[in-house]
Amino acid sequence: MSNALVWGAGGGIGQALTSLLLAKGWTVVAVTRHPTRLETSAAHVIETGDILPFDVQTAVTTASQFISDVNLWVYAVGDIVSAKVEDMSPDSCQRIINANLTGAILTTHYSLPLLASDAHLMYIGAVSERMRLPGLSAYAAAKVGLEAFIEVLGKEQRHRRVLNIRPSAVDTPLWEKVPMRLPKGAATPNIIAEQILEAFDQKQIGTLDLTS
Ligand SMILES: NC(=O)c1ccc[n+]([C@@H]2O[C@H](COP(=O)([O-])OP(=O)(O)OC[C@H]3O[C@@H](n4cnc5c(N)ncnc54)[C@H](OP(=O)(O)O)[C@@H]3O)[C@@H](O)[C@H]2O)c1
Repeated sequence: MSNALVWGAGGGIGQALTSLLLAKGWTVVAVTRHPTRLETSAAHVIETGDILPFDVQTAVTTASQFISDVNLWVYAVGDIVSAKVEDMSPDSCQRIINANLTGAILTTHYSLPLLASDAHLMYIGAVSERMRLPGLSAYAAAKVGLEAFIEVLGKEQRHRRVLNIRPSAVDTPLWEKVPMRLPKGAATPNIIAEQILEAFDQKQIGTLDLTS
């Protein structure tokens, strides 16, 4: 039996992944701010607030009541804002850095004791070099920071597998937050979920770019 812990399970990619894992017979702990968005009742759902130290610690303690030796750990939390630096509010800036970068570090820190010795840790990043566009400074900076974090973590956790997954456009609610049109041919969250599982099966580490 395989165990997974999914952060951001109420999001487009998080939901698809949770459903796929459950369909494949995994035991899944799904952490989300909005549990009602999860269609399935088979997952162990943990409702949490924003990714802040106390909430993360509490969520991990609760998760430990359902699973130990997590085989697949996925950080699918992320947030985006489109605002030029001159217009960006401190709150927006903090929100984007927290969701995309600080949250990844905190959830990793608190989750490590719960992971199997050969666990696979996956982070949903972005093709950061393509994100360096006007209005996306905080998002692009956070995703670049995430890449550095993942690289260092991979060197520290050599017995575990650490992977930065960089999807191209995916049809999820994230796009409703920016004044840009979803590109034609964008991937569905279900396809991304299947690629995540494939990466687990193939024991992939480092960086995985997913083109749609
Ligand atoms: N969609 C794309 O085209 C695309 C492309 C490349 C990379 N990505 C990355 O893929 C990841 C998943 O995004 P998605 O497309 O599935 O978007 P999404 O549907 O908006 O999901 C994002 C998830 O993050 C959660 N979240 C955001 N801020 C949070 C916070 N401060 N604390 C706790 N949870 C928070 C959301 O929770 P709530 O549901 O509670 O709001 C939601 O579950 C993100 O890192 C995104 O940058 C997406």
